[in-house]
Amino acid sequence: MKKLTTKNGKSIPPIGLGTFPFEGRVMANVVKSAVELGYRLIDTADDYRGESGIGLAIKEMQAEGDYKRGDLFIQTKISDNNAHVDEPLSGVFFNPKSKFMQRHTVEEIVREKVETSLSELGTNYLDSLLIHYPFPEYFVDIWKVMIELKKEGLVRYIGVSNFHERHIEMLIKETKEAPEINECYASPIGIKKRLIEYCDSCNCLFMTYSPLMDLASGRITEEPLTSMMAKYKKSAAQIILRWNIERGCMPLPKTQTPKRLKENFDVLDFSMDEKEVAYISSLNIDYQYLVESKICPGI
Ligand SMILES: NC(=O)c1ccc[n+]([C@@H]2O[C@H](COP(=O)([O-])OP(=O)(O)OC[C@H]3O[C@@H](n4cnc5c(N)ncnc54)[C@H](OP(=O)(O)O)[C@@H]3O)[C@@H](O)[C@H]2O)c1
Repeated sequence: MKKLTTKNGKSIPPIGLGTFPFEGRVMANVVKSAVELGYRLIDTADDYRGESGIGLAIKEMQAEGDYKRGDLFIQTKISDNNAHVDEPLSGVFFNPKSKFMQRHTVEEIVREKVETSLSELGTNYLDSLLIHYPFPEYFVDIWKVMIELKKEGLVRYIGVSNFHERHIEMLIKETKEAPEINECYASPIGIKKRLIEYCDSCNCLFMTYSPLMDLASGRITEEPLTSMMAKYKKSAAQIILRWNIERGCMPLPKTQTPKRLKENFDVLDFSMDEKEVAYISSLNIDYQYLVESKICPGI
């Protein structure tokens, strides 16, 4: 798996923390517990309403002397709405029909969004910034601004989310810069083989969102995983998270349950062989959870 480092130069573990829909004190407590367990990457977005809770956790951990900002890896995203304003802003940004877009440049919007995220998180740099969806007409221009933000040192890694090969190809064609990260859904019933191989070929790390959703919803049962669960003495969730890591993908599980927070991180002490990875991948039915791109399903 492509390695990411914190600002202090340490490699981060190959599993990150999903944080939607936590907010405020609840978020701060989850983040602090997770960091204590060994998680380093915290995933959020400017429309999750959780950045200030993560900021609270960072502030408290620094004050308590346990962790410095440079020990952590904070990832946020640029979305078409904005959780910091109580107006129904969905679609206001990066929507060609919106009057707002006619009054502001993409650069102004991206820079303002990043400033807001930095302020909510209480930090002066982001470890990683992603474009939340491939907003048609806008994602290449957003990407150009992000390349500048990286040069300026405000952001350490730049990447995308919910991008298909054709979107990434367009970024490379227009800017010669491939994203360093692509955060998408994948699961044993939706394995995204081609996209992951394409990302690997671009040295782009595939991060898996909602890695346990199909298990939690019953779309995947424990039954096909029981022999591996017995062999490794691991739960079905741990088998699925490890399958992600074996494929070179970094899973981002979320849980509100302290026991599961520990369980989900406890996947670094075993490994599967190729046959086992292939067996789990054979459960594939090309299932897609969530519309990957809410405003450009076709392109
Ligand atoms: N970029 C995007 O467009 C996008 C879209 C969706 C999600 N995300 C990111 O990915 C993160 C994770 O996705 P998600 O929250 O949708 O799904 P998930 O992490 O797969 O979690 C799904 C459900 O699984 C349960 N769960 C967690 N650990 C478990 C375990 N060990 N055993 C059994 N069940 C377990 C959780 O319930 P409990 O909380 O009750 O344990 C949770 O509600 C989000 O928090 C967010 O950061 C990004």
